[in-house]
Amino acid sequence: MGKVIAFAGKGGVGKTTVASLVIRHLSKTGETPILAVDADPNSNLGETMGIDVPTTIGDIRENYMRDPQGIPSGMDKINYLETLVEQALIEKPTFDLLVMGRQEGQGCYCMVNNILNNFTDRLTASYKYLVVDNEAGMEHLSRRTAGKVDMLYLVTDYSLRGLRAVRRIHDMLDSLKLEIKDMGIVVTRAPEQLGDAFLAEVDEIGAKIVGTIPTDPALLEFDMERRSLMDLPDDSLSVLAVKQIMSEPVTA
Ligand SMILES: Nc1ncnc2c1ncn2[C@@H]1O[C@H](COP(=O)(O)OP(=O)(O)O)[C@@H](O)[C@H]1O
Ligand SMILES: [Mg+2]
Repeated sequence: MGKVIAFAGKGGVGKTTVASLVIRHLSKTGETPILAVDADPNSNLGETMGIDVPTTIGDIRENYMRDPQGIPSGMDKINYLETLVEQALIEKPTFDLLVMGRQEGQGCYCMVNNILNNFTDRLTASYKYLVVDNEAGMEHLSRRTAGKVDMLYLVTDYSLRGLRAVRRIHDMLDSLKLEIKDMGIVVTRAPEQLGDAFLAEVDEIGAKIVGTIPTDPALLEFDMERRSLMDLPDDSLSVLAVKQIMSEPVTA
């Protein structure tokens, strides 16, 4: 299985942006193939990568539960669901994208979830990197059986509130069934010099800062023009900052 890079943090701090920039960096440096997993129910990793997402794993689950008898003849349930997941996988030259979509609704979908989870776990075997953009609570990652994470980036903007969310996530990591090899804080919209109050809070959390990303006007521009972050110029501030962050190898 490839190396797993995951992102966590409060909504709106820049997780999806940093995840996209990491995918961009790995793509441009030939660290491929990459599987991008959008595990946030309010998913928008597709959008930032300039991709339309017609079907999510959540849609497959919902459709199947609505009509469990609708399996084409000659197929069993498992083949059928796996085929649908294969179709939902969006293939780009350097990376594939899988969007998890809605979490379970009401009722127990355990069997369907198990089939989908087992298959997506198996799918991950053929990639060099897995880049997982999480929802704030990390439920998705923790629910997976193969809960191995090589690098967890705890993303915060330059605010104590963002940092406190990082702290809550950091504090609950022990209670999750995850094997996290390395982690670090990434500060987005960071000033050149981080203030004392901010650094004091970082000290208390006990996790290291692995990088900062300044406010990048190009991100606003690309958002407004609905352009893929894959197409950001090599010299934009956020691209350079992520290059710097990724110059530390993700642990083996
Ligand atoms: N370093 C930055 N400079 C400027 N704008 C940023 C930066 N990081 C994120 N943004 C903007 O902030 C908004 C939220 O970012 P997003 O990555 O979607 O956050 P999250 O995934 O954590 O909810 C987006 O409009 C994004 O363009
Ligand atoms: Mg997001």
